[in-house]
Amino acid sequence: MIVVTTFAELRQARAKLPGPVGFVPTMGYLHAGHISLVEHARRDCAGVVVSIFVNPTQFGPNEDLASYPRDLPRDLSLLEAAGVDLVWTPTPESMYPPGFQTWVEVAGLTTPLEGAQRPGHFRGVTTVVAKLFNAVGPEKAYFGQKDAQQAAVLRRMTCDLDFPIEIVVCPIMREPDGLAMSSRNTYLDPQQRQAATVLYRALSAARAAYDQGQRDAGALRRIVRETIGSEPLAKLQYVSCADFDTLEELDRIEGRALLSMAVYVGKTRLIDNFVLE
Ligand code: PAF
Repeated sequence: MIVVTTFAELRQARAKLPGPVGFVPTMGYLHAGHISLVEHARRDCAGVVVSIFVNPTQFGPNEDLASYPRDLPRDLSLLEAAGVDLVWTPTPESMYPPGFQTWVEVAGLTTPLEGAQRPGHFRGVTTVVAKLFNAVGPEKAYFGQKDAQQAAVLRRMTCDLDFPIEIVVCPIMREPDGLAMSSRNTYLDPQQRQAATVLYRALSAARAAYDQGQRDAGALRRIVRETIGSEPLAKLQYVSCADFDTLEELDRIEGRALLSMAVYVGKTRLIDNFVLE
């Protein structure tokens, strides 16, 4: 496994990789969810590239950029064990040098849900992913369904900007008690970690109603709201039952729907979703 930092080193190492090349962009502090993306890429592609970059432009001023967990040695040994060919760890100074003023922005899809709660977040994500795509030039790129809106926004960007890259979205990886894997789970103390299982319980309760024929989106949102409300350590920020493709809120579910939410457990903001189809 080759580890590079500069654009020049990346270009040189990338040119030597066999194709097709699969790319997994990450912010590091890897967990089984990231490794499942890498394994997916490893199965599909002859060359596998992973980037590790905690992207400052996708964090709001009051978010957790400074405290975001980092452990490069551990990340590198996990990636080596997963059979990655090339790891790129760019620096913030090289990605955003003085005078940087070009942004990539997707319009409508970034307005609701995470976009409404985290102004500027998706502009940072699309800008950095466009730069990463340009530098790595992969045939396929892998993202997790946990960040469902991010996946939709990046699919849109890839199509609109004619990147010749296939976006592959992989299922959410969960802990045995259902909590969706996230680098931010490490912020939870043991009591909060237990309370955080309420997200999965809320989604499961709504899906049970859906499976029994409930198609009223408001009723499903209510089930989520009530289940989260029953956990004193959890505070619901939003619950959404939206069209899977447009992310517009639904009255009735007719096609594929995305049931998603953001919940604070203490100071930690967690997101999760189920696809209803
Ligand atoms: O999902 C993430 O970890 C980040 O948003 C990404 C796609 C690596 C861009 O910084």
